[in-house]
Amino acid sequence: MKDLITTALRYENGSLHLLDQRRLPAEVLWHRCSDTDDLVALIQGLAVRGAPLIGVAAALWIGHCAARGDEPGQLLDTIRLLRASRPTAVNLSACLERMQHRIEQGADRAALIDQATTIFFEDVMLCDKIAQHGAALIEPGDRILTHCNTGGLATAGVGTALGVIITAHKQSKNINVWVDETRPLLQGARLTTWELERAGVPYRLICDSMAASLMAAGEVERIMVGADRIARNGDFANKIGTYALAVLASHHQLPFYVVAPQTTVDQDCIDGAAIQIEQRKAAEVRGATGSFGACTWSPSNAPVYNPAFDTTPAALVTGWILDTGVFTLNDVKAGAFG
Ligand code: MRU
Repeated sequence: MKDLITTALRYENGSLHLLDQRRLPAEVLWHRCSDTDDLVALIQGLAVRGAPLIGVAAALWIGHCAARGDEPGQLLDTIRLLRASRPTAVNLSACLERMQHRIEQGADRAALIDQATTIFFEDVMLCDKIAQHGAALIEPGDRILTHCNTGGLATAGVGTALGVIITAHKQSKNINVWVDETRPLLQGARLTTWELERAGVPYRLICDSMAASLMAAGEVERIMVGADRIARNGDFANKIGTYALAVLASHHQLPFYVVAPQTTVDQDCIDGAAIQIEQRKAAEVRGATGSFGACTWSPSNAPVYNPAFDTTPAALVTGWILDTGVFTLNDVKAGAFG
């Protein structure tokens, strides 16, 4: 398989390397993927994360396994393991289903490598299209609030919501970004800040609980977030805390946009209630772990509720910014998502 290089993933000299996002921003540490269990652990531990990127990484791993001569039966077993690693983001299962379909059709090694490479480049291209549609909605001087990390660390390309924001900055729109820290795993505080610094975009980091007072004070023009799965009716799952932002945006009559590739729309999912929400370990809420060390601030056995995602109803969304264009609730009701 030929070399493929992006912000958080490198396929080089026949090996898959992933940027260990748990160590950012203090340390840029690349991890060479040794076997499928290794990749499953990296995905579950959020070393590699973001809905589009985990799908691309999994597809490339299947391409890699095909290239080294794994038999179809072995490849299907590997797909099963990877698919079960994280349940909420549709991109993971969708990318693996595409690989599985080709295997079941009897595709040879070259065709499987080609399919994996196509999935990689498709994501790059989808991000570029999203960025163009989304940046057109941003007014000069906008202060945009975003949540979690949706940039080059979460996709094979420039990102979704963060790709839009960075593109608007490159268009000299003089924007400022409010970055939600995104508890419990701090994707905003650790990763979005890292990406914005690299791109030279002015930002300020806030605790999640500060968004309400910022909106009330008139300090936010629009909110842009990513998505892990969009249902046919426009409801969507994204990082925990997204729903709270949508409710706040509605109360303050601020535009609230969901930014995602068409590949995040799950046509088999009728509404948000049908989306499986990943529940994660209690330790993530009892304290924090990262390049800064590990600490527990609650009683060590404090009972915890830790859903990784929440579901936002379509009625709270101003627009869905996809690679195929910008859709309103009326478009969605008319069947834009299948
Ligand atoms: O748990 P994570 O860090 O994988 O969650 C990521 C998000 O919720 C993103 O908003 C989503 O995957 C879209 S990334 C372009």
